[in-house]
Amino acid sequence: MAQKDPNHDDYCLEQYKHQFQVDLLQGRVAFITGGGSGIGFRMAELLMRHGCHVAIGSRRRDKLQESAQRLSAATGRECLPIQMDVRKYDSVKNAVEETLQKFKRIDILINSAAGNFLCPAASLSSNAFRTVIEIDTVGCYNASRAVYDAYFKDNGGCIINISATLHYLGQPLQVHAGSAKAAIDAMTRHLAVEWGPNNIRVNCIAPGPIEGTVGMRKLGGLMLEGSPEVKDKMMSYIPLGRMGTRTEIAESAVFLASDLSSYITGAVLVVDGGAWLGGGGGPMKSML
Ligand code: NAP
Ligand code: COA
Repeated sequence: MAQKDPNHDDYCLEQYKHQFQVDLLQGRVAFITGGGSGIGFRMAELLMRHGCHVAIGSRRRDKLQESAQRLSAATGRECLPIQMDVRKYDSVKNAVEETLQKFKRIDILINSAAGNFLCPAASLSSNAFRTVIEIDTVGCYNASRAVYDAYFKDNGGCIINISATLHYLGQPLQVHAGSAKAAIDAMTRHLAVEWGPNNIRVNCIAPGPIEGTVGMRKLGGLMLEGSPEVKDKMMSYIPLGRMGTRTEIAESAVFLASDLSSYITGAVLVVDGGAWLGGGGGPMKSML
């Protein structure tokens, strides 16, 4: 039988020590795009462990059903799996309606759906660039707009976008994803300003390299599977000296979803162990 590894596969944690009060999000409902896998899965789990019911949406029906079953079994909260494609507005709108029919409310939207691969700009097709922009940026707008129209406009709510740090220093092979995520950072601020008067907070988490995720396997896997020296060198560029965990991202999401962050909106919270600072310190670093 395959080993259950919650750090590398979509299994729930076997043990979880609550850092926040266990009922922090009691009775609330979250809608999470990309919630069936990776970082989105763990965010669903921790929101549920703090009292939320959750709807998770993405393209793969079987994967969603399996994840929803695991999430409910581990947390005792309800998880509604909904097949949808964030690129298609009607598909997202229907998923939001299904969530409202089931739970009667939505308090939290997390935009975690994304697509990525490594490719130099010189060989990236126009359609490849558009595909990533459509999943990440248009998808984020579609879900935000659908939840706003159907519920947040009149009831308030909280949006958490998932961005990245790729665009801070113009990471090579990432012009498509970096451009998409930069637009999500901008969208976070625009919507925070426009929708603040409706009591809607809009924030963003920018994760660094997170171990055991599809994102990391696609982008850093090749380098990390190399020699231990290569891995050590990579880790030496991260001030905290290691990759992050999905749980560390999810705990930031619990914070931003809760009343603990009631006066925070328009913020991008970088959760990366200082990774984007890279070789911060330049030549002076060797003098430390
Ligand atoms: P992941 O497990 O592959 O998560 C991406 C999710 O998006 C999947 O559940 C996928 O499900 C869904 N998705 C893709 N296209 C979709 C579409 N058209 N419509 C609806 N859902 C769609 O990868 P991850 O690494 O955990 O990434 C989660 C988030 O964190 C992403 O926003 C990513 O950019 C961000 N991030 C990750 C890292 C990292 O180190 N992993 C670093 C920085 C930022 P389906 O295939 O079923 O549609
Ligand atoms: N390098 C360069 N171009 C690529 C590519 C790669 N590795 N993978 C796909 N493309 C191009 C395709 O060739 C196509 O362009 P073309 O029509 O000019 O040939 C375009 O991207 C769309 O590809 P397609 O496979 O039709 O898109 P899709 O919608 O089925 O899949 C992806 C979207 C490519 C992003 C896919 O990897 C995916 O679904 N990812 C979700 C999971 C993920 O990436 N998680 C990590 C999150 S950080």
